[in-house]
Amino acid sequence: MNPKDANATRPAPAGAGQALLDWSRRKVDYLRISITDRCNERCLYCMPQGLKDWKEHDEILSYEEVLRVVRIAVALGFSKFRITGGEPLVRRDAVLFLEQLGQVPGIRSLGLSTNATLLAPVARRLQQAGIDSVNVSLDTLDAAEYQRITLKDLASAVAGIDAAVAAGFPKIKLNAVLMRGKSETQLLPLLDFARERGAYLRFIELMPLTTTQVLTRENFLPAEEARRAISESIPLERAEDVRLGHGPAVYYRTPTGQLVGFIGAMTDLHFCDACNKIRLTSDGKIRPCLGNHLEFDLKSILRGGGSDDDVADLFRRTLGLKPAEHEFRGQYRPGRSMTAIGG
Ligand code: 5AD
Ligand code: SF4
Repeated sequence: MNPKDANATRPAPAGAGQALLDWSRRKVDYLRISITDRCNERCLYCMPQGLKDWKEHDEILSYEEVLRVVRIAVALGFSKFRITGGEPLVRRDAVLFLEQLGQVPGIRSLGLSTNATLLAPVARRLQQAGIDSVNVSLDTLDAAEYQRITLKDLASAVAGIDAAVAAGFPKIKLNAVLMRGKSETQLLPLLDFARERGAYLRFIELMPLTTTQVLTRENFLPAEEARRAISESIPLERAEDVRLGHGPAVYYRTPTGQLVGFIGAMTDLHFCDACNKIRLTSDGKIRPCLGNHLEFDLKSILRGGGSDDDVADLFRRTLGLKPAEHEFRGQYRPGRSMTAIGG
């Protein structure tokens, strides 16, 4: 698998393709769209395990509204899209929606973030729909621990990952959130698991994105510490040449050529320097930064008879005010959980 392979290119409409820059000249061409705040899992670091305050259906953008926003975003210069949740596959007709999205001209890369527990039966259809990158949360291969972290069973997630591998998505990334006391024994097993499947593995530092009590100093495991622990068994060489999808992960290479990424969301002081994305929440707010409460209300424009230009203007305003960096290192108090914002 060549990480720098261009993804399947769909024909672009006139006007698409110009680079959009934010006020600090960061190129922003990536829109992450949450299509639901619901999830069939309850990851400790993401959602309070008893959470029930879902949005009502009419508060959530319809698929037609999302498709309209995507078309406008493409015309503005966005070319990379990722559908997230919650768990996107719990929303009714998510697969049909993704098939329609795959037809939108000008999308250069279309990704899906999922916990994979519902993926097995639909993986092939999604691959055929043009999804080229699937991100799966997988923190542990210990079934009992997986159950404690997510309240779901590991076997369904592994079945989903294996179905994704069989379906032949060009890029499959496994994301493991680092937690002290949980991750240390999992570093090498996860590396093996990813290698056997030709998937990329990334370790992510725990971010203050939940209203639960998980984010404590004791639970935090720095990416650098995980990297050092791995290198005690497997030499890791910095892969300067690799930046998958221009994401924030720093990649290393094992002697067998396997790539492993580390996302130092909390400890890497340059984490936000090349940030290329903004988010659309399931309830129709544009969010320029995961670690900042700033949001812009797109839904009221969409539902208030706003023109495509009005929508485009809101995107431009968002880029004009995109924070230089997240506020996680300060006294950041999460307002909305990850599921509400969209990973
Ligand atoms: N810190 C770090 N990563 C998180 N994710 C969800 N919540 C957090 C958090 N608090 C990750 C999941 C998934 C992706 C969508 O976001 O593991 O891979
Ligand atoms: Fe669901 Fe993903 Fe949040 Fe886990 S991290 S509860 S799988 S949205």
